[in-house]
Amino acid sequence: MHSFIELVASFEGRFTGSLPFRPAPASLYDPCRYLLKLGGKRVRPVLCLMANELFGDINEDAWYAAFGIELFHNFTLIHDDIMDKAPLRRGNPTIHTKYGLTSGILSGDVMCIYAYEQMANIRQFLPQALRVFNKTAVEVCEGQQLDMDFEHRNDVTIDEYIHMIMLKTSVLLGCSLKMGVLVGGGLGDNANKLYEFGRNLGIAFQLQDDYLDAFGDTGKLGKQNGGDIIANKKTYLLLKTLENVDKEQRNYLEGLLQSNSDNKVPSMLELYRTTGADIACRDAVAEYSRLAFECLENVAIPSKRKEPLMELASYLLMRDK
Ligand code: IPE
Ligand code: IPE
Ligand code: MG
Ligand code: MG
Ligand code: MG
Repeated sequence: MHSFIELVASFEGRFTGSLPFRPAPASLYDPCRYLLKLGGKRVRPVLCLMANELFGDINEDAWYAAFGIELFHNFTLIHDDIMDKAPLRRGNPTIHTKYGLTSGILSGDVMCIYAYEQMANIRQFLPQALRVFNKTAVEVCEGQQLDMDFEHRNDVTIDEYIHMIMLKTSVLLGCSLKMGVLVGGGLGDNANKLYEFGRNLGIAFQLQDDYLDAFGDTGKLGKQNGGDIIANKKTYLLLKTLENVDKEQRNYLEGLLQSNSDNKVPSMLELYRTTGADIACRDAVAEYSRLAFECLENVAIPSKRKEPLMELASYLLMRDK
């Protein structure tokens, strides 16, 4: 069994050390290399490798799945940053800021295709693995579209929000685990239980991401602070605030939602605090984490083997970046 740190190091060695892109045109592939070399937590590929290792030694197919998943994730980040008008990613300018919008679109497209190219190397259970992956990729698009639609609505419910983050974020964590099990030949109940673990962990992860976007430290996070507030993203923090405000605060909040002033972010953060939305968000992270750990407990293998996954989950929920 390997720890999170060990698997991140092995992944970096194999993946970043020999990125699969063709040399030319550099204007297409440089942005891809740029983003991938900026690192990232590598959570999804490591989930895939850990799930594969639950049932035996990590096999080659799991590595291909892990590469494909990380490429797909990075592709979604490139397009997400365009959609969210984000200036910073991993502490550096986003691709569309550095190389321009058309590079962001096309380098994202090609990275997605390279993700499929990695998947195509899987030797066993390829059709099954692709079906899991494709279903997830479609769901991510659906979630991203809902996220954008919600920017223009002020009547989004918490249930709609949870559904949206399940699609845009958590299914990919579930898929990473399920593919790891699947390419190890472990079909059946355990694969589904691990998927459920990932789904709940992913919801907690996105709630935490929203929290950090508001209250985190740009230096550590590497993303613009308050980006969600500027874009009127319907985060858990905002929805809880809308739920908890009195009439006077609601008028003030509605004014803030329409404004572009420099005060928008600090004023909104103040409201999040006074209405207790910050605490509610942290409680929701804790609740979905609890659900995640419950699902992991139900996976029918000795608990010792689950320790790396538990360690990774705990790290994710304590993270500040
Ligand atoms: C960012 O994912 C996008 C979300 C789903 C919140 P990560 O926080 O895993 O990004 P990196 O890969 O570590 O940079
Ligand atoms: C992004 O959610 C989810 C996907 C990329 C599919 P966010 O928009 O919250 O992610 P960050 O905060 O930009 O990393
Ligand atoms: Mg974003
Ligand atoms: Mg987004
Ligand atoms: Mg975010």
